[in-house]
Amino acid sequence: TDLLKRVEAYLKEYLTKNSKRLDRFPANSLSRTSSTSSIATDEVLFEQPEPMPPTKATLDKILWSRSLQLRDRQEYWEASVEGRRMVESRRSLPAFKQRDSVLKAISQNQVIVISGETGCGKTTQIPQFILESEIEANRGAFCNIICTQPRRISAMSVSERVAYERGEQLGESVGYKVRLEGVRGRDTRLLFCTTGVLLRRLLVDRNLRGVTHVIVDEIHERGMNEDFLLIILKDLLSRRPELKLILMSATLDAQLFSSYFGGTGVIHIPGFTYPVRSYFLEDILEMTGYRLTPYNQIDDYGQERTWKMNKQIPRKRKSQIAFVVEDALRAADFKEFRPETQESLSCWNPDCIGFNLIEFILCHICENGSPGGILVFMTGWDDISSLKEKLQIHPIFGNPDRVMLLACHGSMASFEQRLIFEEPASGVRKIVLATNIAETSITINDVAFVIDCGKAKETSYDALNNTPCLLPSWISKVSAQQRRGRAGRVQPGQCYHLYPKYVYDAFAEYQLPEILRTPLQSLCLQIKSLNLGSISEFLSRALQSPELLAVQKAIEYLKIIGALDENEYLTTLGRYLSKLPMEPKLGKMLILGAILGCLDPILTVAAGLSVRDPFLTPVDKKDLAEAAKSQFSRDNSDHLALVRAYEGWKKAEVESAVYDYCWKNFLSIQSMRAIDSLRKEFFSLLKNIGLIDGNPAIYNSEGNDENLTRAVICYGLYPGICSVVHNERSFSLKTMEDGQVLLYSNSVNARETKIPYPWLVFNEKIKVNSVFLRDSTAVSDSVLILFGGSISKGNIDGHLKMLGGYLEFFMEPAVAELYQTLKKELEELIQNK
Ligand code: CDP
Ligand code: MG
Repeated sequence: TDLLKRVEAYLKEYLTKNSKRLDRFPANSLSRTSSTSSIATDEVLFEQPEPMPPTKATLDKILWSRSLQLRDRQEYWEASVEGRRMVESRRSLPAFKQRDSVLKAISQNQVIVISGETGCGKTTQIPQFILESEIEANRGAFCNIICTQPRRISAMSVSERVAYERGEQLGESVGYKVRLEGVRGRDTRLLFCTTGVLLRRLLVDRNLRGVTHVIVDEIHERGMNEDFLLIILKDLLSRRPELKLILMSATLDAQLFSSYFGGTGVIHIPGFTYPVRSYFLEDILEMTGYRLTPYNQIDDYGQERTWKMNKQIPRKRKSQIAFVVEDALRAADFKEFRPETQESLSCWNPDCIGFNLIEFILCHICENGSPGGILVFMTGWDDISSLKEKLQIHPIFGNPDRVMLLACHGSMASFEQRLIFEEPASGVRKIVLATNIAETSITINDVAFVIDCGKAKETSYDALNNTPCLLPSWISKVSAQQRRGRAGRVQPGQCYHLYPKYVYDAFAEYQLPEILRTPLQSLCLQIKSLNLGSISEFLSRALQSPELLAVQKAIEYLKIIGALDENEYLTTLGRYLSKLPMEPKLGKMLILGAILGCLDPILTVAAGLSVRDPFLTPVDKKDLAEAAKSQFSRDNSDHLALVRAYEGWKKAEVESAVYDYCWKNFLSIQSMRAIDSLRKEFFSLLKNIGLIDGNPAIYNSEGNDENLTRAVICYGLYPGICSVVHNERSFSLKTMEDGQVLLYSNSVNARETKIPYPWLVFNEKIKVNSVFLRDSTAVSDSVLILFGGSISKGNIDGHLKMLGGYLEFFMEPAVAELYQTLKKELEELIQNK
């Protein structure tokens, strides 16, 4: 009751103190509203010809004269010295040989599919072919070509490249548009944009008025946005018979897409690659003089797979070789690797990436190998930046006269992007540390060596607990082949896989399409915000439809958390969540955290839930590590423990004592860094949707109130909840779906014998033999009732019912009595309000 009153007081105080800020969101969010949405004016794709002339004839005349100008400019460029040189080099790309057949197919079909080896010139050439042919036919100013890219960075770098190939500045005939950024002008006729930008454009302009060609690139990746876009475009084609749709894919799965659009034309651009020699972990180790022999192998999954060395590693005086072998052993210790259940891979040990191993191979190549660039595939920017730091102090790799060391990932700066395509000075070797972005969307020309860590960070769908997590997982065979292929573009190459051959053999053939492996909650919100009707009906028309059960579960979840109402309409909260590109639960937490003035700790919690657990528990130092974690904990919350650990980290950062701090407290430096940068990202996302502005401090006036933070955590994690049942000496936990559940041993609550709260909210549960909760925060009845789901009078009634159901389920008469009392108090409270 005490806490209840305090929460009540908070809400009241906030409503008065921040009435202006709250105008934008909370007051009316308490009631449900219909789903008319405010539209971002940011998403205009092409500038309209200004000012609009009165008749079509006049407009045509203007466009015609502009078309002539475009043609003059193109001819002028092609006649210049650089222009001629550029045309020559473009002609050497495999795509050029198919120019005529591509253009012919486009003129004869509404939809075509183009497939071709990465680097053959699909992205840079095909859109240009269309533009050039329109310009040559004096229709230049009449065409509007949109080419979508799955990632911001490729939209930006490709548009820049194409403008350069046409001898222009960006923003003349070629432009780009990504979220909140873009360059385009009056004459922009070819626009590269992210798939998300086109989807948001469809929100305001269902028919894509004025657009003549839509090119959807990289469809082989089967990203959620691309699959989603294809459903919408398929509908659009019948309404816009003159609209042309071109689909481009790096692999030979064109048939699938062709039949989705009723058997349209397919064009394949044959490419050429030199042979590439593969080395697996066992081969790499032989180079060190050691050999690994596996025992307990594949046939008995239940057993832990272990590897034996042919020699003892010299433990005392650790040579570089010893470190390398150790890395390899750790990487080879695939305890979690069970090919039949890919989910369990989320327990991946972050240190398995084996920096020593990579360094060893790099040295090996530099000492023995022929010239040529080296491309290292890693999981994400945190790994990349750590390795880059490590290599920068190396005598060879840190020396700019010998090595040009670059990073290539989604969030790199644009000057860095340009360097990737630059040729190094003679005698200098290019080494690029890349994410899977370099697999198909960015081609680095002079690569002859590839190092493949075998993992990629992507949202992996864990069917069990219905939460996506950005954790590294094993790639597919197709991806591994793509990575290997990168080494054979200019000369015969070599590829070093940092995993044994048998692991490769167990890789899935293809990556499952994202729509089938990620929770559908965010997608459902998108469908609703685009007004596309019934969610399940819409999704049944996808290239590969998700299971009906998965769709229903997602809808049900969205209703429970208050993002959709009973009739599947977006609520105000739902509309805000649909604008935040993150899991709804994180969005919910952040929104309420900002409103109630505890944004700072909530930013840490939300970021912490998105990266791998920063609290490390090395097997041999488990007790020490758990003790280290428990000094951060006071009130039965793993999430609050992280908040404190992060605050300490921040302090240590100021004193440049981060390494010491992390070492002492068993914290992962990479995870802490990732949390730090995610916090900034989340903050700017909240700013972008107009929920907050200006100074972060005003959203954190109550940041020190841990009970308030706890309540907001509950608001986000609900319905992830279990009840605490005390017995004589300790307690047990139950959820409605699973019955008894257990805590992971490194949870602060696992060390307690008593929890002074009746409930735990949790982010993730994992089924091993029993169901385990990874992280949890204890909450009281009143917090659960007020903050579980969405805050509204109607919902409080709903929660009371739910709570009643819970209590009945567990048959706890004492708690049932408490529930009755609480219910009465609450009802009075609601009436008084
Ligand atoms: O899309 P696809 O993989 O078929 O190839 P692309 O991205 O169009 O690249 C064709 C060629 O242009 C490759 O050889 C790239 O290395 C080169 N390119 C470049 O030099 N600079 C860029 N910014 C983009 C591409
Ligand atoms: Mg491409």
